[in-house]
Amino acid sequence: MRDLPTLLAGRRRLLVTGGAGFIGGAVVRRLLRESDAIVFNLDKLGYASDLSSIEEALAAAGSSDGGAESRHQVLAVDLADAEATAAAVRQADPDLVMHLAAESHVDRSIEGPEAFIASNVQGTFSLLQAVRAHWEGLAGERRERFRLHHISTDEVFGSLGAEGRFHEDTPYDPRSPYSASKAASDHLVRAWHHTYGLPVVLTNCSNNFGPWQFPEKLIPVVILKALAGEPIPLYGDGLNVRDWLYVEDHVDALLLAATRGELGRSYCVGGHGERNNREVVEAICARMDVLHPQGAPHARLITAVTDRPGHDRRYAIDPARITAELGWQPRHSFEAGLAETVAWYLDHAPWCAAVRDRAQYAGERIGLAGRS
Ligand code: NAD
Ligand code: DAU
Repeated sequence: MRDLPTLLAGRRRLLVTGGAGFIGGAVVRRLLRESDAIVFNLDKLGYASDLSSIEEALAAAGSSDGGAESRHQVLAVDLADAEATAAAVRQADPDLVMHLAAESHVDRSIEGPEAFIASNVQGTFSLLQAVRAHWEGLAGERRERFRLHHISTDEVFGSLGAEGRFHEDTPYDPRSPYSASKAASDHLVRAWHHTYGLPVVLTNCSNNFGPWQFPEKLIPVVILKALAGEPIPLYGDGLNVRDWLYVEDHVDALLLAATRGELGRSYCVGGHGERNNREVVEAICARMDVLHPQGAPHARLITAVTDRPGHDRRYAIDPARITAELGWQPRHSFEAGLAETVAWYLDHAPWCAAVRDRAQYAGERIGLAGRS
């Protein structure tokens, strides 16, 4: 991948929404580490947010977070609040917007879909209106260079059978409140491009994993359950398939698409990492047996539990477009990324406890409320 300053091509003021979350945090850390851009991190600072990874990165770079010229400025704003969003966009005065903020957990969307409509649909609408007003006020080179990159998911395409992979022309067929809200946001972004000419790029990525992921998604849940010697919940028959991508490889793809992607175009991102859930859980248990032998064999903890309502069977991405047009390739195998991730969680038990406490989430099952 080209170096970041070359990709940014003079864009100095970057607005990242959702930068206190898992993937947004990885984007912000990369921007702070590898460029001299000023990052405005707009986030409502909700249950899944945590800034300690960014604070660590700033401390390592000898930089601080606080003054007006700080490289990292947190804008604590809920995108559902249109006025606050417009004010935040005016304050950031961005050359590039990367929109990652969203409610992101399918199980939570089954229990409480309202928050997903508010953040993902209403929030994206507020942002589009604010960004459009900003872009229309730009002139010259700043206007020419400006872009909004909308970060979305492969779940908008629905559920695959045993064959085939999602690509950019796959028809939308979302099936959970989460994926429907993300699909709606994708449609809004495309509409703002076609109707108002707003310069946008979209990406649809598969399942991410890696350090600093809030421990409610499959991989950190399994690691923490195994460490605690508690039953590891495997939904249904455990044969649902996801296409796993290490988060830093997603960040590479995002930075390429945001800066080099063709306007109005979308890019599917996935790392040829298809595994069924049983394979993923067994691989984590095998790694735990090596790193935490006192609990071995951890696979004895795997427990079949009631399936997720409306559980999509299989996701898989064909990344041919982003590979051919933007030169993206994942740099981590699933096995290498998983080994790093398991080791990271074992080293960060206090962080896991702190973020779970703050979110008042103790690792219990979420998302059965939809089944009545
Ligand atoms: P996350 O839940 O870890 O972080 C999301 C962040 O967005 C949080 O800090 C949250 O506070 C913030 N946010 C939510 N609603 C907001 C609002 N109304 N206003 C301001 N901030 C708000 O999610 P993630 O896993 O980092 O996902 C980031 C983006 O990438 C999402 O758009 C998601 O749909 C997409 N995505 C995620 C994955 C994945 O596997 N995690 C895969 C593909 C795409
Ligand atoms: O495909 C991209 C999507 O991947 C993103 O858009 C979402 O934001 C992200 O959360 C993720 O969605 P999934 O629903 O695929 O991820 P989750 O980690 O919740 O579940 C992965 C698979 O593991 C899924 O088939 C359900 C299953 N599962 C999950 C949990 C939490 C279990 O079997 N047991 C569990 O405890």
